[in-house]
Amino acid sequence: MSEGDPFLTLGIETSCDETSVAILCGETEVVVNLVYSQAGLHAQYGGVVPEVASRNHVRKLPYLVREAVETSGVPMNDLSLIAATNGPGLIGPLLVGLSHGKGMAFGLGISFIGVNHLEGHLFAHRLSAPNVDPPFMALIVSGGHTSLIDVRAYGAYRLVGRTVDDAAGEALDKIGKMIGIGYPAGAEIDRLADEGDPKAIPFPRPMAGSPGFDFSFAGLKTAVLYHLRKHPRERREDIAASVLASVVAILVKKSIEATRRHHRRRLIVVGGVAANSHLRDALVVAGAERGIGVSLPELGLCTDNAAMIAAAGAFRHLRLGESHPLSLAPNPALGIGEDDIEETPPASSS
Ligand code: KG4
Ligand code: ZN
Repeated sequence: MSEGDPFLTLGIETSCDETSVAILCGETEVVVNLVYSQAGLHAQYGGVVPEVASRNHVRKLPYLVREAVETSGVPMNDLSLIAATNGPGLIGPLLVGLSHGKGMAFGLGISFIGVNHLEGHLFAHRLSAPNVDPPFMALIVSGGHTSLIDVRAYGAYRLVGRTVDDAAGEALDKIGKMIGIGYPAGAEIDRLADEGDPKAIPFPRPMAGSPGFDFSFAGLKTAVLYHLRKHPRERREDIAASVLASVVAILVKKSIEATRRHHRRRLIVVGGVAANSHLRDALVVAGAERGIGVSLPELGLCTDNAAMIAAAGAFRHLRLGESHPLSLAPNPALGIGEDDIEETPPASSS
């Protein structure tokens, strides 16, 4: 690459059941972002089967890379950096994307960087709003995670709270299974809830009133199970609307409160569940009431995708001078901001 040439990053995401490849120009210009969802393959099992996911990443990834290069018109030799997710996620799927990315970097003689999937989700915000910089509070809410992170700057994170059991999306997927919705159930619950009564069933709101910013969704799942035993003919629309009323109330309350307590003026919400229309509407209303700006990336950047991985990798490489050796191993339990975990919330000023 000669001076003046654009910096081009190829991103790879395979931490769960989405195979995704993206090409990013500079730090924020998405040239192509291809996402192949395996959800249909896993639906018959009611959830992601890790080995099935790994095998299908192996099958699909080389073709997605080729398609990304061909549709973007970016010659492979013009790439500057390969960025691949190295955790958290499922070990087999992670190994597929990471090994493929390292092989490409080696073959092309360019730099390689492993990306924390959770940091990748934060960079979905940077892609959709490149001029809205930290500090801000971030809620990552997906099938695998529900975490509140104080973002002082990109790269400087403090974990403020997280789920003590199920992630919000995981609970929705399991509840969906109980009412006969295929995996993943979040989007269908979102749609069904439009036609249901959110007050029909007073489901619990676990930990909504507890001090601190941790979450719990396992109890809600159990409450739905017991309710269905007693009322097997309950309307699915009413269950969906009532469940979402609980999930949305908990997420909105904790995330707005965490933003205020940490004296941030902005809340960004990312991850698959951030695609939920009821949550998006409620966050915008609650933010306006409290004078907090709420940023919600477009739906395609909320769910797993490689553009956000490329963006996090390009930032770390260009701004922080980072790259990784080809010996980098995946870390299925990789966290974010945990070195600076907050045990006790600061006292409320109001
Ligand atoms: O971020 P993501 O694609 O993958 C993980 O990193 O987990 O999130 C997937 C999760 C699934 O649990 C899915 O049911 C949920 O996001 N989801 C939704 C919606 N779209 C996807 N949940 C609620 N409403 C939606 N519209
Ligand atoms: Zn994710």
